[in-house]
Order: sequence, then C-alpha cells, then structure tokens
Amino acid sequence: MSALRLARGFTQRDKIIKFEGCYHGHVDSLLVKAGSGALTFGNPDSAGVPQSFTDHTIVIPFNRPKAVDAAFAANPDKIAGIILEPVPANAGLYLPQPGFLEHLREVTSKHQSLLIFDEVMTGFRLGFGGAQQRFQIQPDLSCFGKIIGGGLPVGAFGGRAEIMDYLAPIGSVYQAGTLSGNPIAMAAGIAALQELRNNSLYNLLESRGQLLEDGLKLAAKNANQDVRFHRIGSMFCAYFTAQSVANLDDAMTSDRDKFAKFFHGMLEQGIYLAPSQFEAGFLSTAHSEQDIQQTIDAAATVLKQL
Ligand SMILES: Cc1ncc(COP(=O)(O)O)c(C=O)c1O
Repeated sequence: MSALRLARGFTQRDKIIKFEGCYHGHVDSLLVKAGSGALTFGNPDSAGVPQSFTDHTIVIPFNRPKAVDAAFAANPDKIAGIILEPVPANAGLYLPQPGFLEHLREVTSKHQSLLIFDEVMTGFRLGFGGAQQRFQIQPDLSCFGKIIGGGLPVGAFGGRAEIMDYLAPIGSVYQAGTLSGNPIAMAAGIAALQELRNNSLYNLLESRGQLLEDGLKLAAKNANQDVRFHRIGSMFCAYFTAQSVANLDDAMTSDRDKFAKFFHGMLEQGIYLAPSQFEAGFLSTAHSEQDIQQTIDAAATVLKQL
C-alpha cells in the first residue's frame, strides 16, 4: 500500500499494473484478480471495496510481454508503476519465463514508471538477495515481510534515496504507523537475517529442493499422472494438468478434485501439505533428507491411488 502511494507520489501518475494471480496483501486497490484481461478496469474481489477504488488498477496476465506493451500504449504517461511477485506464488507457483522480468525492467524505464518487486514471499528465501539477486534485475522499489520479521509481524519497503526521499517527513508522501519500527519485531528480524547471512543455508535448501523435485517427478511418472511440478529454491507446487503453467489461466486448468484427493491421501500418510492447490509449498532447514524421502515415498503411494 505504501509502496504504491510512493510510486504514485514520485511519478505523479495514478495507474498501477498488476498481474492476474499475484497477491499483494489486503490493500483495497489490489484486491483484483482476473478482470477480462488487458486494458480493462479490474473488478474488486472482495465485498467492501468500491469499484472506483480499483479503477486505476490495470490487470493483465503474467508472462505476456505484449499485454504489458499494450497497457502502456493505451495509457500514455499515466502508469505510475508495475507491481508483481517476481516469482508468483499465490496461485500455486509459476516462474517468470526467460526475458519477461527483463522486459518489465526495460518498459518501465522507457516510460519513467517504477518497477516494484513484491518480495514478501521470495525475499531472503530464494537467496539472501531474494528474486532480484537470483534473476539479476534491479527493481525501483521492493517490498518485504514474513522472513524479515523472524516470526514477528512486520512489513518493509525500500528503494533508492531519490525515490524514498519523497516520503514524509522529508517529502510529501505520507507514511506512519503506531507499530512502525517496533523494537521487538526489529530485534527478531535482525536476528533472523544475521542467521541467514552467516550460515549460507541457501545451498542446503537448493539441494534438498532438488531432491524433492527429482523424487516427486519420478513418482508422478511411475504413477502415470499428468503433474506439472514447479520448484525454485525451497518453494514448490504440483499442478494436476497436462499443459504447461505460466499464468493464472493455465493454473486454473489444474484438476482441483485430484489435488484434494492427493492432499488427503498425503495427510493419511503423515505428510501435511498446504491445503490448497493455490498455496505454494516451502521447505525449511528443519526438513531432513529423511523427511524428504518419506514425502517422496508417500507421494509415490498416493499418486498411484488417484
Ligand atoms: C507476495 C505477498 N505479498 C504480500 C502479502 C501480504 O502480506 P501481509 O499479510 O503481511 O500483509 C503476502 C501474504 O501472503 C504475499 O504472499
């Protein structure tokens, strides 16, 4: 919410592009998912959000560079920025296709709009430098949460000084909160980040993730199931569909009844996955190789029963 206000204040423009299937918290103007595609005004997803609050939100499909170009062409000098999860993980998990993030970087620079990475999920998870380090793309603003609080509630956003100086009290964009900079949350967050910086846990997460990926893909093949297993680092998702998944429409082709049966079958085997097709799964350093093997064995049994 604050990052958008800052982007609007800095560029003196109103419109924001967001992608179908990306979630950015419960800010009114972003509670829009799948309008009828590029260039249409979004319809609010939640009761209590006036239509007019989403009139400046342009919703387009992920991984479609031409839809981005069309939105800019239709709204010259009106787009304050593009906000996205660089690796969307709120409609399952699908990856940016090669060149897509680069395209967003180029097009926003060309039109003096801001590129805003919502790294609430990917930040400090895909690596110490998040998705932006992994994909070598520097956004103008970044948003964080979750990991940076070390288990306590927190949110943060940042960018280069030229933009951040637009915030009050130096600049004219208002931002404040009773619990801003809460010392207990800050202490927990600093401790968590120090652990992550000092212990290089990311290689471990990568190799455990690879183990899970190899095992689950093989289990699906042996069970003759059409499963699209997506993984990046410690994040993963399995879609029950034969087609490749690169955006929300593709994700919706997943057989959710099958997912539900898979979920309950896994639960009976003692493995508790996220209870929705559209939640990503996460590995943590607490998951041992033995835990992963147990998960693969359980999946091999359950997939054969589907
Ligand atoms: C990518 C992303 N952005 C923003 C949020 C919102 O974070 P919070 O619930 O802390 O406002 C979430 C929450 O899951 C998220 O996944």
